[in-house]
Parts: sequence; C-alpha cells; structure tokens
Amino acid sequence: MFALPLAENAVLRPLEPWQAPEYLAHIERGRAHIDRWIGWAALAADLESARAVLQRYADRQAADSARLFGIWLDGTLVGGVMFVQWDTKTGTCEIGVWTEPAAEGRGLIGTAVRLLIDYAFTTRGMHRIEWHNRPDNVRSRAVAQRLGFTLEGVMRESYLHRGVHHDGEVWSMLTHEWKPAGGPAGAAEAAGA
Ligand SMILES: CC(C)(COP(=O)(O)OP(=O)(O)OC[C@H]1O[C@@H](n2cnc3c(N)ncnc32)[C@H](O)[C@@H]1OP(=O)(O)O)[C@@H](O)C(=O)NCCC(=O)NCCS
Repeated sequence: MFALPLAENAVLRPLEPWQAPEYLAHIERGRAHIDRWIGWAALAADLESARAVLQRYADRQAADSARLFGIWLDGTLVGGVMFVQWDTKTGTCEIGVWTEPAAEGRGLIGTAVRLLIDYAFTTRGMHRIEWHNRPDNVRSRAVAQRLGFTLEGVMRESYLHRGVHHDGEVWSMLTHEWKPAGGPAGAAEAAGA
C-alpha cells in the first residue's frame, strides 16, 4: 500500500511510528555501518527511542517540515531516505539517506532520491535541495554527484560526530537544473549518451 517501485524486488514506502519494531531491527543490522558516518542510528538505541524518532518525523510531516520514507528489499526494511529539512517559505530542503549493508551497491538510494527530487521540485514547487556529507564519505558524495548535484563548498569542521569535528561538504540542486524525466543522468541515458 502507498508503495513506489524502486526495482523489481524493492519499494519505497512511508516509514511510520507503528513500524518501530521493524525499524529498530533494521537499525540493529545497520548500526555499525551507519554510525561510522552519521548520528542517525544512535538516535534509535531501543524500541522507545526508535518509536520517538519515527514519531518526531510523523509530527514534522504533519507540520510540513520534514518527511521520512523506508526502502523495503524483498519485503525487509533495509534503509531509507528523508527530507531532513523542508522549508516552504524559502523553497529549500535537504535530503538525507542511509542503508544497512545488505542494501548497498544496488542503486536503490539513487533511485529513491530521484523520486524525492521530483516530489520536491515538480509536485511541491521547491526551489533548492541540499545534500550534506563528509568529504571522506565517498559513497554518499557519489550519490550526489551521479544525480547532478553541484558541490558548493566545504564547511570546515562543521560536523561534530563522536567527538570529532569533521569537515562537511554542501551540495545543491536548483529547480531549473532538474529534468523530471529522471534528472541529468536519466536524461543523458534517454538521449543515448
Ligand atoms: C550513503 C549510502 C546510502 C550510499 O548507498 P549506495 O548503495 O552506495 O547508493 P546507491 O543505492 O545509489 O547505489 C549506488 C551503487 O549501486 C551500484 N548499482 C548497482 N545496480 C545499480 C542500478 N541498477 N542502478 C544504479 N546503480 C546501481 C552503482 O554502481 C553504485 O555502486 P558503486 O558506487 O560501487 O559503483 C550508503 O553507503 C550508506 O548508508 N552509508 C552509511 C550512512 C551514510 O553515510 N549516509 C549518508 C550520510 S551523508
């Protein structure tokens, strides 16, 4: 129900508070992998805090200030994508992503992010989407690059993670840079490039 196909065996669906046990089980499988780069998994330390994360996003979605979606591969929750920030007044938003190891390297995140970009620009008329990553997070920056985001710069030691002040890259895409058929990469493929 309410599922968008990402691949033959994978779908994107809303991720909601009632799914907290499934979400926690997924986070446990991916915790070490995700923790290495971002503080997302650490927010869900147990069932109560996992439910609180999902409830916070549900509340923010109701206020139109964020959105959260899960990725199911062969019926198992394996990752997700979200609008970490969503500000209709300025027309700007930020996309965040994560997977457990079993879902990595299949193109699911890139495909899901395309759907989010399309929703932001085409459905909601947003103007600018940001993507933030550590420079050494090569898989994350590769997603932004493949989708046609532009690297704007490095915020020096802006990201505190596990006691270390990491540099943070900011990438962005503006509405006129997105081609709804699938974005820059998709358009190039369609044109036979
Ligand atoms: C960042 C993260 C989500 C990226 O996941 P990912 O699986 O590399 O991204 P995608 O789903 O877009 O997959 C791209 C990979 O799938 C491969 N792929 C396989 N089949 C594919 C297909 N049908 N279509 C597109 N790509 C495909 C691509 O070649 C690419 O692999 P490569 O980089 O080894 O060449 C993941 O590494 C992660 O969760 N990291 C920890 C948390 C994190 O850092 N989050 C981001 C914080 S900024």
